[in-house]
Amino acid sequence: MLLSADAPSSSPDPSWSPSSWRARTEAHAITYDDPGELERVLARLSTLPPLVTSWEIERLKSQLAEAQQGKRFLLQGGDCAEMLDDCEGSAITRKIKILLQMSLVLLQASGKPVIRVGRLAGQYAKPRSNPVETRGEVSLPSYFGDLINGAEFDAASRRPDPERLLRGYAHSAMTLNFVRSLSAAGFADLHHPEYWDLGFFDRADLTPEVRADYQRVTSEVSRAMRFMEALGEDSVEKLSRVEFFTSHEGLSLNYEEALTRQVPRRQSRYALSCHLPWIGERTRALDGAHVELFRGVGNPIGVKVGPSADPAEVVELVGRLNPMNLPGKTILVSRVGARRVKEVLPRLVEAVKRAGKRVLWVCDPMHGNTVSAKSGLKTRNFEDILAEVEACFDVHEDLGTVLGGVHFELTGEDVTECTGRGVDESLLDKRYASRCDPRLNYAQAMEMAFAVGRRMAKGRAANGA
Ligand code: PEP
Ligand code: CO
Repeated sequence: MLLSADAPSSSPDPSWSPSSWRARTEAHAITYDDPGELERVLARLSTLPPLVTSWEIERLKSQLAEAQQGKRFLLQGGDCAEMLDDCEGSAITRKIKILLQMSLVLLQASGKPVIRVGRLAGQYAKPRSNPVETRGEVSLPSYFGDLINGAEFDAASRRPDPERLLRGYAHSAMTLNFVRSLSAAGFADLHHPEYWDLGFFDRADLTPEVRADYQRVTSEVSRAMRFMEALGEDSVEKLSRVEFFTSHEGLSLNYEEALTRQVPRRQSRYALSCHLPWIGERTRALDGAHVELFRGVGNPIGVKVGPSADPAEVVELVGRLNPMNLPGKTILVSRVGARRVKEVLPRLVEAVKRAGKRVLWVCDPMHGNTVSAKSGLKTRNFEDILAEVEACFDVHEDLGTVLGGVHFELTGEDVTECTGRGVDESLLDKRYASRCDPRLNYAQAMEMAFAVGRRMAKGRAANGA
């Protein structure tokens, strides 16, 4: 065995292997009609280069460990379901840009470095409550995301097609390649305020107040940077460099297994499809296949936790995913709905705290607040989304724990999917582009960043920071 200077990132457990999930029940499993074709694709996929490296993953993990202590803040966001057709330069730039701008607002309000994680470059698989969709007399497999099948309602499109696993990989790689080039070229560098400027795109959709607030934030940040530079702080260079990490729901275990690799000179295996995979609310069964695969990798792992979660079960889940109780390793993403936060969240947080488990608590204020509009379109209201974030801050402050991040479904486009702040129900069908859940549009996302920032600044003032 190779001796390594690296501390283990997960516990070496002889009962685990990248394929040990195959003996477990896999919720939301996909049935492929040609197992031979699936095998051929997976064999090819497992020879293709990793999409991310263990060094990046370890770096993210150490930043998440700091977020756990309240020293950093996680901003995770992007589409509910990415589409392969959206892998296009300007669309990717807009996704990066909205995350950058929101992170700047949060940084300025909270005084904490922000960790940016996109639901990006691989968020192509979706769990569905019903595996079959029926329209009139016709029943077909539901649309499980572009990694699995096509959205069009015809038999050929809806057939789960193994080739799509390769296409998903390729589109993740192309997206990531462009994101990395943008970062390397200084797109996201704080020394290039022209890119941070709202005027870079014509954003007529923003209110004058948001525009003015944002201009104040950019000039304050630029002033602070110049001041530190004048003092000769060598950390400025580091501070101004902006990193992006990628995340997606680790739903397709065939795909994740093929990209789970042993890394030279490290003791753990890593899921190298993205930096931060998460397990969804529907697939987090303790003895299920998803928990089995992800318990064995060195990545930080997110788990969505809904209103019906049992505190003892959540504690056990954390123990299974992180038996060595390593910092920065486990992220619990609560998504219980604005009205239920104060009833449900305290008992979960208390149980985890009592058990001495190290986790990063994050609020997803989207998935517990989905409603149907009169037209039948799925929507979410801005005020409910904000109320859930604020209630999460309240609960953690009351319990002396840390809310270390937020997780949004959002887009840099001017869509009409969530109501509030300029979009009422009657406007929803104007530009409803999501194939899955409704996202905050560009202006709503910016307003949300300011509102969350104000709440964080309030907490900061109360703590005398
Ligand atoms: C999602 O994040 O798009 C999702 C399906 O979330 P959850 O598992 O929390 O329902
Ligand atoms: Co969603």
